Amino acid sequence: MATNRTFTMIKPDAVANGHIGAILNDIIAGGFKIVAMKYIHLTETSAGNFYAVHKERPFYGDLVSFMTSGPIVAAILEKENAVEDFRTLIGATDPSKAAEGTIRNKYAKSIDANAVHGSDSDENAEIEGNFFFNQFEKF
Ligand code: TYD
Repeated sequence: MATNRTFTMIKPDAVANGHIGAILNDIIAGGFKIVAMKYIHLTETSAGNFYAVHKERPFYGDLVSFMTSGPIVAAILEKENAVEDFRTLIGATDPSKAAEGTIRNKYAKSIDANAVHGSDSDENAEIEGNFFFNQFEKF
């Protein structure tokens, strides 16, 4: 399988709870290379646009509020089979269903404040990475 990329965010709950370092350690130990990374506080407009696919879902408003409640870490990661392997590393959306040892199992408290984002397809990884990083910030 060719080396490819995924996109992640360490979400406001995990940042506020002091888990940035531990989560980055798990990501690196999982074999991912950090291609690009930034620490930012999303505006309501940018969080709303990022999650526009969920606009009609009942949790959309709360999701945007949560994602703007504090700073996040956004990063592009590289590894063979990056998208699928990263979804395995982070575990299920609902941390109570996330496998033992996964990032969400260890650091997330609830389905809405679930510590990390991971792209769900190669196409979305590309779109999401481009949402946060310009051509000079990723190489
Ligand atoms: P989704 O894309 O379904 O999950 P994942 O992040 O695992 O790809 O949902 C996006 C985010 O929306 C999810 O990380 C947390 C939030 N969310 C809720 O707050 N409540 C829910 O019932 C669901 C399904 C998601």
